[in-house]
Amino acid sequence: MKILGIETSCDETAAAVVENGTKILSSVIASSAQMHAKTGGIIPEEAARQQVVSILPVVKSALSQSGSEISDIDSIAVTVGPGLIGSLLVGVETARTLAVLWQKPLIPVNHLVAHIYANFIRETQNSKFQKPNSPEFPALALVVSGGHTDLVLMKSHTKIEWVGGTRDDAAGEAFDKTARLLHLPYPGGPSIANSAAKYLALNHQPLTLFPRPMVDEANFDWSFSGLKTAVLREIQKLEIRSGKKSNFPLQYPASNIEPLIPKLAAEIQEAIVDVLVTKTLAAASLIKPKSLLLAGGVAANTRLREKFELAISHQSLTVDFRVPPPPLCTDNAAYIASCAYFAPHAKDWTEITANPQLAIVGAI
Ligand code: KG4
Ligand code: ZN
Repeated sequence: MKILGIETSCDETAAAVVENGTKILSSVIASSAQMHAKTGGIIPEEAARQQVVSILPVVKSALSQSGSEISDIDSIAVTVGPGLIGSLLVGVETARTLAVLWQKPLIPVNHLVAHIYANFIRETQNSKFQKPNSPEFPALALVVSGGHTDLVLMKSHTKIEWVGGTRDDAAGEAFDKTARLLHLPYPGGPSIANSAAKYLALNHQPLTLFPRPMVDEANFDWSFSGLKTAVLREIQKLEIRSGKKSNFPLQYPASNIEPLIPKLAAEIQEAIVDVLVTKTLAAASLIKPKSLLLAGGVAANTRLREKFELAISHQSLTVDFRVPPPPLCTDNAAYIASCAYFAPHAKDWTEITANPQLAIVGAI
């Protein structure tokens, strides 16, 4: 079965054709991230405008790169939420129109649940990767993206229960906001990871500068908003020590602290990674799932993967731990199509609408 997936929840316009939920025949992504890098963050109206420009060429390329005719496509899957309303509407209205025009079933997809399905994709057109079988249930899944941090228990493709999540900022948001404080480019996650890697290549001392909120609490929740303030305070302290006063945060001369940026980036990354690993593994030891799945843009972080692997082996946890290859962690349409294959809630096109507030356990 071939499904055409369409994803437009934020600043990526993506379309993909996926066979039987596991094999990518094509995956095309147009991103307006470079445009947002100039302003240090996403301007929703600009992102939506770019979605309008990109959507038809992206869908057309996905079809042609997959070698499929319209008649080969069995159904269309589209992200209905959560996300930016203007961006979501472009994908949803395009998918509705194509479904009517091409007479195909239309499957609405929850973007957050779909992130998890990057773990179910096993092949591209030219290569095989990851394990030969799909993850087994029950699966504990940590979805860490730019706007969400959710820990859920998947008992089956259709039975998903809430375990925990962030009380304030998302993990990706913590990377993005603290990167801004360090004057590192948007998106902040890869910028912090790259800067931190420079420090980590030469230094092996423990990184304990920033707090690990809620890490010892008997729940599976996180809080990341305090990290921003802690980083801001640290920068201000360093500035005072250097004797240079500046109009922080927007105009301070980055050169004041520039040599310390890799260390600060490593400290920030370590604080975020530590709490994600500790709380998730506490849940895993209690719930004892068969699989532990990472998903979302932050799952592309190498340190996060490494520390999960290390902690799983230290704690002798018996769990099938999986992380998708980095390009499948960040937003794309392949996992949208995969999710629609494994958990198809086909609906009449007239009933499908964008829902920017959709929760990971919300009804579509
Ligand atoms: O899942 P995603 O592509 O989009 C959303 O659904 O939000 O996630 C984007 C988030 C951004 O906050 C970005 O900074 C973060 O993922 N991210 C990373 C890395 N790559 C992307 N965070 C840490 N390390 C990375 N390598
Ligand atoms: Zn996403």
